[in-house]
Parts: sequence; structure tokens; C-alpha cells
Amino acid sequence: MKKTILLTRYLPFALAMLFASCEPADQSKSDKEKFVNELIGRMTLEEKIGQMTLLTNGWEVTGPVLNEDYRQEVIAGRCGNIFNAHTVVYNRVLQNLAVNETRLGIPMLFGYDVVHGHKTIFPIPLAEACSWNLELIEKSARLAAREAAASGLNWTFAPMVDVSRDPRWGRVAEGNGEDAWLSGQIAAARVSGFQGDCLSNPFTMAACVKHYAAYGAPMAGRDYATVDLSELSLRSQYLPPFEQAVKAGVASIMTAFNEVNGVPATANTHLMNILRNEWGFEGMVVSDYTGINEMVQHGYAKDVKQAGEQAVAAGVDVDMQGCAFLNYLKKSVQQGVISESTINQAVRRVLNLKYDLGLFSDPYLYLNDSVEAAVIYSKELLDHALEAARQSIVLLKNEPVKGDKLLPILPGSKKIALIGPLGDNREDLMGSWHAAGDPAKVTTLKEALMQRWPESQLRFARGCETFGDDRSAFGKALEAARQADLIIMALGENYKQNGEAASRSQLGLPGVQQELLEQVAAAGKPIIVLVMAGRPLVLSWIDQHIPAILNTWHLGTKTSEAIVDVLTGKMNPSGKVVMSFPKNEGQIPVYYNTKNSGRPFDPNNKYTSKYIDIPNAPLYPFGFGLSYTEYSYSDLRISRDTISKDQILTASVLVENRGEVPGEEIIQLYIRDIMGSVTRPIKELKGFKKVRIEPGQSIKVQFTISEDDLKFYRSDFSYDSEPGEFRLMIGPNSANYLSKSFFLTN
Ligand code: BGC
Repeated sequence: MKKTILLTRYLPFALAMLFASCEPADQSKSDKEKFVNELIGRMTLEEKIGQMTLLTNGWEVTGPVLNEDYRQEVIAGRCGNIFNAHTVVYNRVLQNLAVNETRLGIPMLFGYDVVHGHKTIFPIPLAEACSWNLELIEKSARLAAREAAASGLNWTFAPMVDVSRDPRWGRVAEGNGEDAWLSGQIAAARVSGFQGDCLSNPFTMAACVKHYAAYGAPMAGRDYATVDLSELSLRSQYLPPFEQAVKAGVASIMTAFNEVNGVPATANTHLMNILRNEWGFEGMVVSDYTGINEMVQHGYAKDVKQAGEQAVAAGVDVDMQGCAFLNYLKKSVQQGVISESTINQAVRRVLNLKYDLGLFSDPYLYLNDSVEAAVIYSKELLDHALEAARQSIVLLKNEPVKGDKLLPILPGSKKIALIGPLGDNREDLMGSWHAAGDPAKVTTLKEALMQRWPESQLRFARGCETFGDDRSAFGKALEAARQADLIIMALGENYKQNGEAASRSQLGLPGVQQELLEQVAAAGKPIIVLVMAGRPLVLSWIDQHIPAILNTWHLGTKTSEAIVDVLTGKMNPSGKVVMSFPKNEGQIPVYYNTKNSGRPFDPNNKYTSKYIDIPNAPLYPFGFGLSYTEYSYSDLRISRDTISKDQILTASVLVENRGEVPGEEIIQLYIRDIMGSVTRPIKELKGFKKVRIEPGQSIKVQFTISEDDLKFYRSDFSYDSEPGEFRLMIGPNSANYLSKSFFLTN
């Protein structure tokens, strides 16, 4: 194995692509089995446990470093995988250790959180989901994999597909919003993007769908907290994206930190059964960072040794960073608590993945300097980062001021004040988990605006920070506001105010930004607010007082260029939100696919389900987003009003662009099952189309509906349809639609 042919190492960029080919499935399967079994036969128990171990690389000012103890573990064959290490030069050193200094020379997996880009950063996943553009999303994953793989990585800890109905939870930034079906579509697109058709292609990498499961439903939105869910909710609302990822062939899956119904996900045999036995997942399962050890704090294991046993017995193959396997698993086997065949099974999954990645043919497959140089920050990546950012922006409001809408900003001699802490900022614009993204590659909004407007017309004032209570710069901001004809406020969260371990209880603008905004607004000038955040914020005051609002999220390396394109009308915004924006925090959890209850809201009846101080409806509903043009929906038709289980119903609607500019509209299909053996949501997203429509043009948009779209989890957890009446809704968002009824017969 040490004498592997280092073919691609010497091949130039283009040729390497040609050499990446997958063998026919059957042949490669039997070769793989033979190879892996033979290898397992030669491994000591310690070496096997080493393959089940994943330790982190460190970073110092001088660059990447491997802790000396870990280095020794690698050489001893006791640590077979490293994460957080990248760059070809550095990972080659590590791979050399594994290949040339260990007894068996088994190459390493190099893992990293390539969640929305490696160096070229794409929009945070929540933002990108608002594009509703699966091709674009798949392409982001494909390009992210290309860049990461070029930088020596072969395994990404993505996609994150945790459905969440709770914007207090900071990690909503990494997911795809509140809808399980849409998140499943996106999960599959990202898996295909990362992995391509062939894992041993040096421009793809193994994906790892996470966090299994229900991590997005912690009590009170507090990260890592208890998850207590009915089996019905778990299966209907939280598991579908994982199942879709498995169907798309995801290579690995990460268990979640949280417990689910009393059992930590890391040792949850029920979840593992669903994964392995119901869905037939044969890939590798990795714990989250010290997730195994944490079962002691959960009160589920008496010590780390027992936690390791519980995890491996449940089906966790790799221990991330906890050293529970490394330190105790040998003893557990010697004591007969864990059988060696259980260990072999786990090792087999790890080695299978290494085989599929092509690492046994060439451990240096992903370690090619010329490829790295050619791919990183290449034009194709940067161009795509811009396009993805443009499509992720959501226009929330654009009301006329003295007869004219503020957006897009027309060319002219207006004096513009850009005010706010995110107006001249680089790193925050990349968002949470921005991997190896370099802030120096980010243009600030101020710089991007200055490229379009002469300096004499643009004035910037920071006003305050995104955190803290320093108001000392308010004065300058107010001065800039007074002198301007138009004000653009760049407000929101910094990248640490969302993401992991960043739950918030109040979802307004953090720090003193709201105060700044109110004082600026008092100057009476027209204001456009840019909300740059990693989660839906509570924007009620802004919605009441400010005529134009763009939710720009954190859009990655090309954030500013994309925002300027939208501000100036070069790009007509088309994004639509994939999480409901609450009116206030008391509405949370707030989501569109609720159940009706026995007393649905009725304004004329006190004893119905409502608040007495706010409406039930969110500020902006799921699927909502405006455009610089206006669309009208008409002529909803269905091909029949009754279908049997083997028939298909076609529904169509006419969508007209009534404005002056072309645009892209996201047309959404929802279905309600009026009655079932378990109660059904008032609507569920079942399809969407994103279409470009020219001014004055009407487009007929068509959807097909089959029995499959009508299936749901019933009380015995079978997944099936039930005959009866259904309501079909098609419209621009979940709160605005045309509708018709149809029936499903036996
Ligand atoms: C996160 C994971 C991540 C891992 C490795 C954990 O804290 O929950 O999502 O993949 O760290 O960085």
C-alpha cells in the first residue's frame, strides 16, 4: 500500500479530471469487500479503534499544527482521521505520517466544516435556501467540494439539514428553514453537489448529513437543550431531510448532541434503527464533537467508557474528538462488553469510505499543488458566489414614499448616507461557519457602493457596533443622516450572534442598533434598511416605520456586490423566506404548517385559539418575498376533481408579470388533507417552480400531483395516503393563494 502509484499528483489540473472515473458498481463492490476484509484481517484491535478515531488539528498564528500527542497517536495507528487540517502542503505532511510511518499505511480522512464554501464563501445555507433554486444550491455544493478537495480535504461535515421552527436557535443559519419537504429537496441537492457521481473523483468529497436527529427542536430554542417530540412529529417534521440525503447516497451521517425523548442521539438505538434498517443506510456514522463523552453529563452513562460502549453498540462508527474509543474501547472488547465483530463492522464502514474516495489507490489524490492553485478563489467560484448571493436576498417591503418606491435606487445626484455597523465590515458578511474564508477577499458594502456612486455623493457613518451599548458614534451618524437625501442602514447580527451556541431570547437588532435606527428615522429622511442576519429577526418596528426593507442575511464573500446589484436594480430580488418571521418572540415556535385545532381563530368568537395581544399570523409568512415587479395569479385549474391512487392530477395557474421589469417568481403549491386518521396540517408545501417572466407576459405554470404527494405518517407510523377530500392551494406564499378541492378515491 505504501507503494501506491501517485498518478494524479503529477497530473495537471485538467488531466486529473479525466482520470477520475468510477468502476462499474458490482465489480468495485466485490473488489472493495475483498480488499477491506483482507485489510481488517491484518489489523490489531488497537489499529481498528484507531480507524474509529477522529481528532482535530490545531491552528496557531504560524499556521496549522498537530498536537504532539495526536501525532504520536497517528504514528502508532491509534488515530486514523484528522479534521480541521487543510492546504495541500500541510495535509501532505499528515498523510505521509499515516502512509509512511504507520504499520499498515492506511490513509487518513481529512474532515472539515465546509458548510457554505471552503475559501470562497457562499451565502449561509438558510439564505441560499431562500433562492428556492435547487440547481444553484447543488452548484454551490459542487464548487465548494471542488475548492475544499483541491485544498486537501476529502470529507465535509455538511449538509446540515436540521429543520427548525425556532429562530431563537442560532443554528437555523446553517439549515434550510422550517419546512421538512423543502429541506429534503435541498439536502438531496447538496449531497449530489458535494459527492458528484463518483467519490473518487478528486474534485468531489464525501458529505456528512447532520445532526441526526431533531437537533433543531431544542426546548426554548436553547442550543444543545432537551428535545422531546412525539414520534409523529419526529417522523413527519424532522427526519424527512435525512431520509432524502440517504436516498441521494450520502456517505456519512453525524449524530446530534441532544437527547431525543430521553435518549441521547449519540446512543439512540431507535434513531439508528430507522437509519440502518428502515432506510438501509450503509455508510459511516460519526459522533458530534465529544458527543459521546457528553452522555455522562446527560445522565445516560456512568462514565466515558460506558458512553463509548453505548455509542458503538448503537452504531456510531467514529468518535469525534472525545477519545472515548481511543482510551477505553480496547478494554470494553477485552472484557467482552463489546464484541470484536461490532468493532469490525464499524471499521469496515470507515475503510469502505476510504476505498470509495480512492484513497487506497492514491492517498495523495486530493493533494495536488497545481490543482489547489488553479481552483481556490477561481473566477468560476467567485462568479457563482455572486449569483448565489443575489438570488438569496429577500425584499420584505417596498412602499412608496411621496409616490415613489425607494427601491431600486435610480441613478441621479442623490446624496446617500450609509449608516450602521455592517456597512464597513468584512468577516461578519461571510456568516457563521465560514470555514477557511478569508475576510480580506470580502469587499465591504461601503467599498462596493463607492464603486457605483462618486465619493462626493456617499457618506458612511458606523453609528455603533452590533453589540454593546456604546452610543458615542451616534452623533456622526445623525449628522450624516441630516445631510443625506436617502439613507441606507446596514444593520443586523455579527457572525457570532448566530450559529452554534448562539441562541438568543430577544430577536430584535442586537446592541443599540434599534436606538440608532429610531434616532436616524427621526431625521425624517427616506430610509432603506438592510437586515444582515443569520436568522429571522423580529422586525415589527422596522416594518411599521421604514418604507423599504431588504433581508440580505449573511451572503458570503460576494455579499456586498450582490446587495449593490439589488439596490441599484441590476438584479431584481426574487428570494422568498423559508422561515416565518415572528411578530414578536412570544409567537415562537411560529410556522406555517400548523394544525387547525378544534377552535381555530375566529375574530367573532373569544373562545378560539389566539393571543389577546397579537395576531396569530407571523409578520412575514413562510414563502414570502417581494420583487421590483408585481405578479398576479389567476385561472387556477385542475385536470380532474377526483383521482384514484394510480392517477395523476394536473393543476395549473396563470402568473402574469404586471410590472415594468422582468423577474423571477417562485410559485408555490400547498395541499391540505381535510381529514385523516391523525389530524393533518392546514397546509403543506408539495411543490414549487421558479420561473422568469417578462413584463406583460403571462405564464401558465403546471404541477402534477400523485398519490405519493398525499401520503403521511399515521398513528402506527405507516406512511400512506387516505381517501377523502384535499384542498390544493397555489400562490406566491403560504398565506396568499388560489385554491380548489379534489378527492382521492380508493
Ligand atoms: C458542531 C458540528 C461540527 C463539529 C466539527 C460541532 O461543535 O456541532 O456541526 O461539524 O463541531 O467542527
